[in-house]
Amino acid sequence: MSAPAPPRKILVSNALPYANGALHLGHMVGFMQADIWVRFQKLRGHQVTFVGGDDQHGTPIMLSAAEKGLTPQQLIDQMESQHIESLRGFNIDLDSYVGTHARQNQQISTEIYLRLKQGGHIDVRTIEQSFDEEKGMFLPDRYVKGTCPKCKSPDQYGDNCEVCGSTYDSTELIDPYSVLSGKPPVMRESEHYFFKVSEFEQMLSDWRQSDALQPEIANKLTEWFEGGLLDWDISRDEPYWGFEIPDAPGKFFYVWLDAPIGYMASHKAHCELTGEDWESYWSTDASADTEVYHFIGKDIVRFHTLFWPALLYAARYRIPSGVFVHGFLTVDGAKMSKSRGTFIRASTYLEHLNPEYLRYYFAAKSGSGVVDMDMNLEDFSTRVNSDLVGKLVNIASRCAGFIGKRFNGELASQSDSPELQAAFEAAADSIAGRYERREFSQAMREIMALADQANQYIDERKPWQLIKHESKLDEVQQICTAGINGFRSLCIYLKPVLPALVAEAESFLNCGALSWEDLHRPLYGNKINKFKPLMIRIEPQSIANMIEDSKELPEADATQPDSLLAKDPLAGEISFDDFAKLDLRIAKIVAAQHVENADKLLQLTLDIGGETRNVFAGIKSAYNPEQLVGRLTVMVANLAPRKMRFGLSEGMVLAAGPGGSELFILGPDDGAKPGMRVK
Ligand code: 2FM
Ligand code: ZN
Repeated sequence: MSAPAPPRKILVSNALPYANGALHLGHMVGFMQADIWVRFQKLRGHQVTFVGGDDQHGTPIMLSAAEKGLTPQQLIDQMESQHIESLRGFNIDLDSYVGTHARQNQQISTEIYLRLKQGGHIDVRTIEQSFDEEKGMFLPDRYVKGTCPKCKSPDQYGDNCEVCGSTYDSTELIDPYSVLSGKPPVMRESEHYFFKVSEFEQMLSDWRQSDALQPEIANKLTEWFEGGLLDWDISRDEPYWGFEIPDAPGKFFYVWLDAPIGYMASHKAHCELTGEDWESYWSTDASADTEVYHFIGKDIVRFHTLFWPALLYAARYRIPSGVFVHGFLTVDGAKMSKSRGTFIRASTYLEHLNPEYLRYYFAAKSGSGVVDMDMNLEDFSTRVNSDLVGKLVNIASRCAGFIGKRFNGELASQSDSPELQAAFEAAADSIAGRYERREFSQAMREIMALADQANQYIDERKPWQLIKHESKLDEVQQICTAGINGFRSLCIYLKPVLPALVAEAESFLNCGALSWEDLHRPLYGNKINKFKPLMIRIEPQSIANMIEDSKELPEADATQPDSLLAKDPLAGEISFDDFAKLDLRIAKIVAAQHVENADKLLQLTLDIGGETRNVFAGIKSAYNPEQLVGRLTVMVANLAPRKMRFGLSEGMVLAAGPGGSELFILGPDDGAKPGMRVK
């Protein structure tokens, strides 16, 4: 007999989510695919390290922190703990979660840059760019808007038109304006640092022909080669939230330079803790016995299949063994939408539904290609209820009762159906191959066909009838033993997808942690524990509640909750007593900030004379938070508090005007003090 192959040493990453927003179900597609693959490899006895972290740099994060009145460091710390909580909630088993602002990343990014520079792969050039004079900063394309030069649609972004789909340079926009100040930008020159990607065309072409890429991605690379490789601008001017470039004051690494290096840094942080050898994964001669894979979405292919391997190669590091690209998630056939409630945050999902429902559903819909995935909510509950509750768990519950009640929890010393056991074992290689090639949907199909076979076997053998005959008791025990072993094999096959359910099944089966090899070691004569339902059906109401909780409030509702003023003022008279019920107060706006994911609202902290109130006001279209802080206004102080999606609103600010930018908060004359009653 030949010695078993030594375990593979595999490093896996999933794309690092930006640190300026909550994780949503779209993010979970990649995380789950990576996690299922990692758990499968671990189950097979390989040595796998799964790394991740937040992508913490760049202009949007800098501006988002400022809007919230936070430092970038405070914002990224907050986001990191939220992200970690969501990932844990979905049982994503990361070995390291370290963001790109970490010390290790600064060190590796700097070193890579210096190696590029020493190798002559950096070019310094002067370029012209849009500059916002009021804000004192250069504007990324997305921060310049204007009229599309092709179809003349107004308010289009600086990189492409959402109406006609054409792409252009922000300098081509007609009547451009800065999204930050509303003012027209000016053109200003500055020196930028470019990585000479075109020098690596040969190496990239070899990589294209290796089996590191899915066929559709390899084809994309050919297109890019044919279009000609452009050098890549890796620097940004201050103010910028990132790492400063050595010997280049005021210049920072572009977020997309240090983002993928974040994979190396997160791995390094892990190795510092465990004492593992980081170099053995990343040095140029490492690729002989270690493997590195990146799971990413299709929108970031260019960064991972052109710039990233070229950068690694130029800096004398190994290139990845594979990049696995997935498509986008749609819900009920359409792009996720806040107004329809289908833009579902990971945390909102977890408030309503079991994470393993979604792990299974995504597995059942995932293939190895770059294909978009639709989460049809009805199909989601039908599939989960039928496969997991109706088929998988049903096998155990049909057999466990008899074993528990009639046989004192003991399995028979042999199976009633060696054929069933043999069929389950025979599927192992095919299912392993499906997992290995990330053909998860096919793996689920094969596994569910086995579940059908087990249920059919129980249907045919009818233990519930045999149990009535004393002479058939041994037979019943052996039938149930066959069923329980079938269930156990299904648990092994599904362990990468359903780790929590299988953990409970392991304690029911009293069998310790199941490994792939246990497929060939069925339980005979063992004692099992009392059966508890391992999963309940998805209730339509839970899905409805999740959608409801994901809906952004419609404009009128969000703007002035329960507003008296929203009613037609000419609709009828009110009595003096009615008027006297209003507690109108002078309020000082002591803090104001944007509300994440709310299009209309600002969150105000109001001082009404020693007492502070939290109020959500629909005045974002007319005011920046900074303009409001310190101002006096008038509020309704005795309005019943209202629970909104973003928190409790404790009153209402009075404003006049038709809306949009023409909305004016009321303010008192000089001399008024916070807390004074309006009479
Ligand atoms: O597109 C994104 O969400 C990026 N934050 C992904 C970065 S992946 C890696 F390069 F860090
Ligand atoms: Zn257009």
